Amino acid sequence: MSKPITIFDTTLRDGEQAPGFGMNINEKLRMAAQLDLLGVDVIEAGFPICSQGDFDAVKAIAETVENATVAGLARTREEDIDRAGEAIAPAKKGRIHTFIATSDIHMEHKLKMNRDEVLAEADKAVRHAKSWCDDVEFSAEDATRTDPEFLFEVIHAAVEAGATTVNIPDTVGYAVPWEFGQLISDIRKRVPGGDKINISVHCHNDLGLAVANSLIAVQNGADQVECTINGIGERAGNASLEELAMAIHTRQNQFDQHLNLNHQYIYPASQTLIEITGQNLQANKAVVGQNAFSHEAGIHQHGVLSNPLTYEIMTPATIGKKGNDIVLGKHSGRKALNHRLEELGFTFTREELDRVYDGFIEICDRKKIVSDQDLIYLSTNGVTELGDEFVQNNMQNMLNREE
Ligand code: KIV
Ligand code: ZN
Repeated sequence: MSKPITIFDTTLRDGEQAPGFGMNINEKLRMAAQLDLLGVDVIEAGFPICSQGDFDAVKAIAETVENATVAGLARTREEDIDRAGEAIAPAKKGRIHTFIATSDIHMEHKLKMNRDEVLAEADKAVRHAKSWCDDVEFSAEDATRTDPEFLFEVIHAAVEAGATTVNIPDTVGYAVPWEFGQLISDIRKRVPGGDKINISVHCHNDLGLAVANSLIAVQNGADQVECTINGIGERAGNASLEELAMAIHTRQNQFDQHLNLNHQYIYPASQTLIEITGQNLQANKAVVGQNAFSHEAGIHQHGVLSNPLTYEIMTPATIGKKGNDIVLGKHSGRKALNHRLEELGFTFTREELDRVYDGFIEICDRKKIVSDQDLIYLSTNGVTELGDEFVQNNMQNMLNREE
């Protein structure tokens, strides 16, 4: 039977931490409502010790979210955990997420602690968090650069102390898929009681591998994936929720796992984040980019108009995006042009269409993409009544317009 994978969304914590992505409390509440509609299992709402604003936002989200578990991040310090505990207290389902670094480089240069001290700290933090709530996640920061034997020890200590989820972050986006998959499988085999541990992964995208690493982790037994809308997050970002979701959904025959998401809210969540942060996406961003479902090449357009499956492996409607954007440019043929003209309400004879098409190609030499506005202008300025000369004149006017 297909296993459900828990989606832990950290858009409001790891994502919000990235420069240019800060959100105020109302914006966070709007985003949290979208995430709840989308059906993510856990919303990491912030890092309450960081600031009063972060604390208030986590608390407000905990008070309002209907379905998802609301998590607050904390280092292993007691005051961090208390602050997170207070902030998530109003939630129907709350989680404290506590973390400490376990790689030699972090322990030596950042924490100035040895392995025994880090082990003791992890144990103490999880036990203290348990006094606030039953649902406690422990993260071994920089796990992928940690000596695996020590990582297994820390995971065991956290589980013994009561951690209900153990997260394996690829904090600096250093892992490659086969290595990361092996690590997850080794944790299952090598940590005592490993087959029962609720394993989470948290991948950064420094080498562009965050989604691939998360998927291979799922194949190797991970139970939870941490990700963000539009892949936002520290540096090159976190694993992108929409890419993960659509990879598992579209290639379901490759997975014994599934996600309990309402996929039709993927695009609305992506657009809401863009609108709130003012940070646009690259046009060719997978799944949610402006061109993700656009076809310009004439041969592709012809195929898509006959049957979208010729060039589309998923439909825009699945992610809640209306319409299939045929982008008209110089590679487009008459068929695609006519289709768009008909959608805009124009019906032309073949001869008229030829004239519009000639005008259209001329515009294409000057502009990369021809907009609906251009087509309307071209079509309503006498193409049917006055013949070529009028069209050419009007087109000239149009080309001289300011874009
Ligand atoms: O990248 C990371 O290691 C983190 C932890 C706090 C989970 O964000
Ligand atoms: Zn992170």
